[in-house]
Amino acid sequence: MNHVSDQEQPIIPRHLGIIMDGNGRWAKKRGLPRSAGHTAGAANFKKITRYCASIGVKYLTVYAFSTENWKRPSDEIEALMKIFQQYLEEALRDFLGENIRVKFLGELSVFPQHLQNLFARTEEVSADKTGMVLNIAMNYGGRAELTHAVRLLAEQVQKGTLLPDQITEDLISQHLYTAGQPDPDLVLRPSGEYRISNFLLWQSAYTEYIIMDKLWPDFTTRDLDSALREFSNRNRRFGGI
Ligand code: IPE
Ligand code: IPE
Ligand code: MG
Repeated sequence: MNHVSDQEQPIIPRHLGIIMDGNGRWAKKRGLPRSAGHTAGAANFKKITRYCASIGVKYLTVYAFSTENWKRPSDEIEALMKIFQQYLEEALRDFLGENIRVKFLGELSVFPQHLQNLFARTEEVSADKTGMVLNIAMNYGGRAELTHAVRLLAEQVQKGTLLPDQITEDLISQHLYTAGQPDPDLVLRPSGEYRISNFLLWQSAYTEYIIMDKLWPDFTTRDLDSALREFSNRNRRFGGI
C-alpha cells in the first residue's frame, strides 16, 4: 500500500471537487446574518482556488449553488445573487489575469439576465487559459444534469440520428456539463455533513470523499494539504483488487 508521510509530497488529484458548505453556520456562530457567511465563503473560495492552481490541480469543481438552494428565504437568495455578481465583476477585473479557465455547470437560464451575461463573459474571456479549469456549479444538481443529458439523447433518437443501442456510458458522459473532463478523483466536504447533496452524481462513481469538520469560511490551505495527504494514502481499487 502506498503511504505518504507528513514530509513527502502528496499526490495531487487531477480533478478536485469541493462542496463549499457551512457558510450559514459560520455566520450564526458569530451572531452575523447568513449573508455575511456567504461573503466570507466567497473570499475563501478565491484563496483556495488560487492555491489549487498553484499546486497543479488541473480541474477544480466548486459547488456554489444547488438546484435545491432556491428553497431558501428570498433575502438569502438575493444576498447570494449580489455576491455572485460582485465576485464575477471582480473576477473579470483581476482574477482573469491568472491562468484559469472558468466554466459554469448548471442550468443558467433561470438567473437574472445581468448574471447570465457575466457568466457568458467570464467563460469567453478565460476560454484560452491553459493552467486550470475552474468549474463553478451554479443552479447545479446531479439529477437535473442527468435529466438534461437524457433529453438531448432522446431528441437524437427521435430524429433518427441515434439508435438506443448506441447509448453508452461514454456517450452519456459526453452529454453532461462536464463533457470532455476527467471524473473527480477527490471531493472535499467541509462542515461535517456526510452526504453528497446532488453533487456530480454520475461523475463521482469512484471518487474518494473526505468530510472535514471545518466550516467553509474557516477552511485553510493547510486543511487542504492535510486532505491531500489523506487522499494520497487511500487505496483506490475501482472495483478491482
Ligand atoms: C453553503 O453554505 C453555501 C450555499 C449552499 C449557497 P450554507 O449556506 O449551506 O451553510 P450552512 O450549511 O447552512 O451552514
Ligand atoms: C450543498 O450544500 C450545496 C452547496 C454547497 C452549494 P447544502 O447546504 O445546500 O446541502 P444540504 O442541504 O445540507 O444537503
Ligand atoms: Mg449547507
